[in-house]
Amino acid sequence: MISEITAQQLNPESFIREKVEEIRSVVADGIAINALSGGVDSSTVTMLGHRALGERLRTVFIENGLMREGEPERVRGLFEKLGVAVEVVDARKEFFAALKGITDPEEKREAITRTFYKKVFGRLVKESKAKHLLQGTILTDVDETVAGIKRQHNVFEQLGIDPQEAFGYRIIEPLIQIRKDGVRIVGKALGLPSELFERIPFPGPALSARVIGEVTPERIETVRKATSVVERLLSGTKAFQYLAILHQDRVTGMRDGKRDFGQQIEIRCWDSLDARIATPTRLSFETLDTLADEIIKKVPGVVSVTYNIATKPPSTIEAV
Ligand code: XMP
Repeated sequence: MISEITAQQLNPESFIREKVEEIRSVVADGIAINALSGGVDSSTVTMLGHRALGERLRTVFIENGLMREGEPERVRGLFEKLGVAVEVVDARKEFFAALKGITDPEEKREAITRTFYKKVFGRLVKESKAKHLLQGTILTDVDETVAGIKRQHNVFEQLGIDPQEAFGYRIIEPLIQIRKDGVRIVGKALGLPSELFERIPFPGPALSARVIGEVTPERIETVRKATSVVERLLSGTKAFQYLAILHQDRVTGMRDGKRDFGQQIEIRCWDSLDARIATPTRLSFETLDTLADEIIKKVPGVVSVTYNIATKPPSTIEAV
């Protein structure tokens, strides 16, 4: 049983002190490695690990081909300014090969987990001689995986998987007692810029959590373009999270006076505190209009744009 530290109970300074000591004592004089995605959780873990281990933490950004527009360069640049070197590893081919032909949501997650931890990361860990992997698992990931709602890609022990046995390394999870609101407080205290600690959540399986049906480079590019529009137009709202989903079904539309059996994009925008329950943000119709216009203009092949109005539960925030 993991004992929760709520955002209200959290004292960021003593939390950081405690976790830094814990990381130092577990890693001892060895090397640790971590994968940074640029999300709030992995950014915070990177800063914690860097504070504890300095150069003995090797931070990699795995370019899986499923990230948002311009993400690898952006993340590397932001961390460079913070004095943390980030190595970008191109693993696009491996991820798309693993995802080929898969449409079932859990199988998709499983393919990403396997490719990430066993193939790509396993190889990097071996090369680096690191015995420890630092990871930004938070309590919500554990809850949802244990409840069988969704398998979060970073939860092992709670599923009875021994990472040492399965992948050959130990996992350290310094954020496991806190939730997203707590992580933001810790990230800020560690000196992350607001564009990182205030970032809306982004799922571990990245844009593949937003593609219904098969994940191909083309379909990812479609949802990536739509995501970019949605993030740009909704960043001024106070919403907890906003995203675009690519549907599998095609619908009849028309383009240039001709019938076009095109693609459908669904927009979701959520009000929530910690992602456990969420309600759709009451966006103005004017905003919805602008979203639809921009998506149709910027994303080739889209003929339908919808807005989700169902709450979580029974919906979930992501679509896969
Ligand atoms: P769901 O979709 O389960 O998401 O309501 C809850 C919150 O967790 C974020 N998140 C993930 N969601 N798989 C997910 O489905 C993951 O690996 C993951 N990592 C983070 C999600 O974006 C939402 O904020």
